Amino acid sequence: MRTSRQKIVAANWKMHLDRVEALSLASEIIETAQREGLSAAQIILAVPHIHLHACGRLLESVGKFPLFLGAQNCHHEAKGAFTGEIAAAMLASYQVAYVIIGHSERRQYAFEDSKQLIAKLKRCFENNLKAIFCCGEPLAVRNAQGHLAYVRLQIEEVLSTLQPAELMNIALAYEPIWAIGTGLTANTAQIAEMHDSLRQLLMELSPAHGQQMPILYGGSCKASNAADIFATPNVDGALVGGAALDTREFLNIVKAIQDK
Ligand code: PGA
Repeated sequence: MRTSRQKIVAANWKMHLDRVEALSLASEIIETAQREGLSAAQIILAVPHIHLHACGRLLESVGKFPLFLGAQNCHHEAKGAFTGEIAAAMLASYQVAYVIIGHSERRQYAFEDSKQLIAKLKRCFENNLKAIFCCGEPLAVRNAQGHLAYVRLQIEEVLSTLQPAELMNIALAYEPIWAIGTGLTANTAQIAEMHDSLRQLLMELSPAHGQQMPILYGGSCKASNAADIFATPNVDGALVGGAALDTREFLNIVKAIQDK
């Protein structure tokens, strides 16, 4: 089906790169993307918090070119005595446009649950930040054929509490945990099955907005498999980890969506 859904390729740098490396990668991506006219998708650089300021300064030069700054997390409270944490309002004051919320690594290592994730999304929306909201099943759940129900619950628990209009500020990212950083990519039949199920759920949650929400795939997405992934129905982009740390590799993924 032809849709006007926003296309998005987001880089998740995770906890990689020092200051010099981060600035060099960001400037190379910004220059090359503009020179090659890679403007068919929004490109988001979700950098470690400490690099937001410097990368944000670099991104100031892009004008209307669709390159945006992203953060990888925010705290679920608006402000307060939470040593070491970062509030959504702080991110907004550094030109952040998107925040990754509910990445499986945060669910696993920082024990984030649906209640916290709802609060985090609210803090984002209060500060005009969009969210990339992540979901995805562990391998044992996939092997037991429980993946559709598992991911459906992850989404339903959170998104059903939001106002329909708030859904417009979200891009979903389906990232099977067994495919993240492992080199194992879900095959296109597996991706199609899940993205179709997610689209149906979104339509149930909001007939008015369900068709518009972009659904990204994440999990060992790279230049060599991006075209196949993007040719899959209901895939509107990618959330890219390892392959986003190399300019050519990352921008070839962006090119693949441009050529779709
Ligand atoms: P990967 O990570 O591309 O390295 O598998 C994706 C992600 O965790 O967002």
